[in-house]
Order: sequence, then structure tokens, then C-alpha cells
Amino acid sequence: RVPVAILISGRGSNMAALIAAAEADDCPYRVVLVAANDPAAGGLAIAEAAGIATFALSHKGMPRAAFDALLDAEIRRAGAEWIALAGYMRVLSAEFILGWAGRIVNIHPSLLPLYKGLDTHARAIAAGDAEGGCSVHIVTAELDDGPVVAQARVPILPGDDADTLAARVLPEEHRLYPATLAELVRR
Ligand code: GAR
Repeated sequence: RVPVAILISGRGSNMAALIAAAEADDCPYRVVLVAANDPAAGGLAIAEAAGIATFALSHKGMPRAAFDALLDAEIRRAGAEWIALAGYMRVLSAEFILGWAGRIVNIHPSLLPLYKGLDTHARAIAAGDAEGGCSVHIVTAELDDGPVVAQARVPILPGDDADTLAARVLPEEHRLYPATLAELVRR
């Protein structure tokens, strides 16, 4: 099974979905490391409880290239062949991304190419969009850019705010991401 590292910054619900899916016998990937750029990230405890190796280091006060080099070394030491970003809220340096050409994947809570960056759901509602959703894409050096591999759509309903829309999209993220990662590592 293909070894995957997951990078997180927060609660790690997508990470948890990726880990849960990997427990199935026929899952083509296994999670070898969860790494966080915030030692307080809630997802770390979930990963530890699942028996997965973790690495946590605050990026604060560190040049991006130096931080990313440490992260890269840790991921390679763990033997990962793919990297899945799961709420990793930090831009990766171009050097880091080049070293993993085509083998870093991300989930973003919008129907890319719409709404790169932050506050995606609020922006979709403000624009009067009929649908929101999430996208899994290959990571390139441009933020939230790179080829989209899969998307899931949900309706935006009258009275929605960013929280109600996020709550409708999140379960779709949890379905879409493990299925898409499995498809990618099988290729
Ligand atoms: C998810 O909604 C994910 O799509 C989003 O952050 C949330 C993380 O939640 N990612 C981005 O906005 C990346 N630009 P989680 O920690 O519970 O998975």
C-alpha cells in the first residue's frame, strides 16, 4: 500500500476521514505520518490515538524555506510517497513542492477555480451562487491552483451563512477526499 503523509494545521476532520478509510483492507494507501505546523492542532491527538506517527513543529519565527526543509526531511524519513494536505493553512515553498512534483494533493472548500484562499463559503453566498462545494486538486506553486481531480457540489439554500454551508460541505469533503486519494495512488 502506498505510504502517505498528511499535513494539518487544525482539528483534522479530513485527516480523520483519510485515516478511517485507510483501515479498509482494500484501501490502496496507508498513512505513515501526520505532521502539523501547530503543536496545538487538535488532529494530532486523533492521529496518535490511531497509532500513527506524528510530527509537530511551530513555523513561528522560522524562515519558510528552513521550516519546509525540516518538514520535507521528516516526511521522507517516514517513507511517504504522497502528501495529502488536510486543512494545512500554510503556503508551501516552491522548492518543497517541486521536490514532490505531482504527488501533493489538497482539499479546498470551494468549486475551484472559484474562491481560492480564505472565507470561501462566505464569498460563494455573497456572490449569490446556487451551489457550493469542495475540490481535490494537485498542488502546484500557485495557491489553490493546480489540476482539479474531483469535486462535490451542494446546494446553497436561502438563509445559509458560512457556517451552515460549511456544515453541508464538510461531509462531502470527508467522502470525496479518501476516495480521490485512493484513485490517485492507484494510477
Ligand atoms: C476544511 O474545510 C478544508 O477544506 C479547509 O480547511 C478545513 C479544515 O478542516 N482547507 C482549506 O481551506 C485549504 N485552503 P479539518 O481540519 O477539519 O479537515
